[in-house]
Amino acid sequence: MSGDVADRAGAGFRRWYDAEPAVRWAAPGRVNLIGEHTDYNDGFVLPFALPLRTVVAAAPGPDGRWTVCSELADEPVEFDAAAADEPGRVDGWAAYVAGVVWALRAAGHHVPGARLAVASDVPVGSGLSSSAAIESAVLAALVDLGGLDLPTDRWPRLAQRAENDYVGAPTGIMDQSVVVRGREGHALFLDCRSEEVEQIPFDLDAAGLAVLVVDSRAPHRHADGEYAARRASCERAAATLGVTALRDVPAADLDAALARLDDDETRRRVRHVVTENQRVLDTVALLRAGRVRDAGPLLTASHASMRDDFEITVPEVDTAVEAALAAGAYGARMTGGGFGGCVLALVDADATDPVAEAVTAAYAERAFARPHTRTVLPAPGAHRLP
Ligand code: GLA
Repeated sequence: MSGDVADRAGAGFRRWYDAEPAVRWAAPGRVNLIGEHTDYNDGFVLPFALPLRTVVAAAPGPDGRWTVCSELADEPVEFDAAAADEPGRVDGWAAYVAGVVWALRAAGHHVPGARLAVASDVPVGSGLSSSAAIESAVLAALVDLGGLDLPTDRWPRLAQRAENDYVGAPTGIMDQSVVVRGREGHALFLDCRSEEVEQIPFDLDAAGLAVLVVDSRAPHRHADGEYAARRASCERAAATLGVTALRDVPAADLDAALARLDDDETRRRVRHVVTENQRVLDTVALLRAGRVRDAGPLLTASHASMRDDFEITVPEVDTAVEAALAAGAYGARMTGGGFGGCVLALVDADATDPVAEAVTAAYAERAFARPHTRTVLPAPGAHRLP
């Protein structure tokens, strides 16, 4: 899609509804610097919001009815309160919209009927959280149109409920949190149990560094089923260990905990989560001390743990990580739920081109689809547009 995403959302609204939108809200995609599959274990994550955004233009509509059009769809989707109140009834991309209406209504809010138009620069299916972006932008627009009494720190849970209970994906709280609460120039250190956040300065320019994001373009291989299986395995392990969540196993007690588990696969799943939580804490400490470069090895260790213990990587992402490291990256890892998606690499600001070229060459050698690469800086979370 060409042109500014906010202009496209406004133009889409005018074209479909022959009227002016009353509000426009933007919500970004995200990458996770470190802390993978820790969120639903009540643990720690350190994501940041991307400069790629989804924009929703909206205006009030007839009571109890919602119409939404998207630049990626030929026709608008229309649904009423009965459909919104029955999880799963609206499907496809519009389920994320109906899910938000459902979550708001289930929480007791009067949701205004509305017309909405969606435009997005967040690629779909690349693991950059296009779903959390549309959920959060729709939620913000509906809260704004309805004048709902809903402070922003409650938005992430509601958007997550839309995804968990309406769309049916058992994801954690990370994506919606950073999409709503991210801040320019910062990574978001989130305690997924208390939902306390700390904005950690992540000034790549000042450090002479860049984050290169490589879209592996690996086809998602059973990602949904595998994600749910990893989550179930973590929950079973927590029950066996007699803790509320794996967050409650401190790194110092890991060996004792592993000795109480009787199969090797579960032991490796637990080891990933416990060591990954510690890597998030260690990364935060390094960033606080201004030692951004030194966080590189933690990113690479996180990747090895996802590859060997959690077993959620695929050859395309492993190749991207290896090629980036061989070309001089300080650290590299897959980011997001796994089984494809994106890899991020921490590189010298003047090394982004050679590292991207090295990854592209390694892909060509293995006859993988050509990867997409871009450099990104931490951008603001959900915001209202003038
Ligand atoms: C997906 C989910 C998140 C999180 C990550 C893995 O992005 O939506 O909640 O679990 O996977 O860290």
